[in-house]
Amino acid sequence: MSFNKLTHNDKNLLWHNFNISKKQRAEIKKQKPCIIWFTGLSGSGKSTLGNLLEKRLYELGYHTYLLDGDNVRHGLSSDLGFNKKSRVENIRRVGEVAKLFVDSGSIVLAAFISPFLEDRQIVRDLVEKDEFIEIYVNVSLEVCEKRDPKGLYKKARAGEIDDFTGISSPYEKPIKPDINIRNDKIDINKNIDKIILYLKERGYLDA
Ligand code: ADX
Repeated sequence: MSFNKLTHNDKNLLWHNFNISKKQRAEIKKQKPCIIWFTGLSGSGKSTLGNLLEKRLYELGYHTYLLDGDNVRHGLSSDLGFNKKSRVENIRRVGEVAKLFVDSGSIVLAAFISPFLEDRQIVRDLVEKDEFIEIYVNVSLEVCEKRDPKGLYKKARAGEIDDFTGISSPYEKPIKPDINIRNDKIDINKNIDKIILYLKERGYLDA
């Protein structure tokens, strides 16, 4: 099945402005909403970091939501595979959902390989300037492949998985990530501390 498209200037579609604003939704939560976007290879630890960061933020009393690649692909993106077109569409959907959560006043954590620079930039441009924080989960292919937590690198090397990031599909590193996390050499709790400090110093928490 293919969808028919509406054009952006379609005269039959209106934008409603509701009574309660993003600012009010954020104020009641005492935080500045944003998207904390983890990008990196499969096995670099994006989901683990996202999970621990969300736990820490929850314990501090903040309102969060974690969007995770593997989980989103069970529902919202269950019709998509891993060729370039599918990945672009996956990140586009996730970007739009993350934007809605930001509008709800939440701190959104997003853990996706998101291998293409252009797609991450598209998500950055969807929200306001300081509402997108890119975290590069910087772990080499060698280390990720050695970890191989899901056995996927082994399968990819054996030719059983197409378009596998790092093996048969590219990964474009962030050029200037907001935060660089060495998730192989540094203790994970220290990495979480670094992200929390970044959020505190820039006024995302206790806003
Ligand atoms: S993304 O490229 O579109 O951002 P996403 O983060 O949603 O990817 O999904 C990645 C997860 O899907 C990986 O952690 C892995 O478990 C699984 N996966 C299955 N096939 C592939 C593949 N060909 N390349 C990368 N990851 C894959």
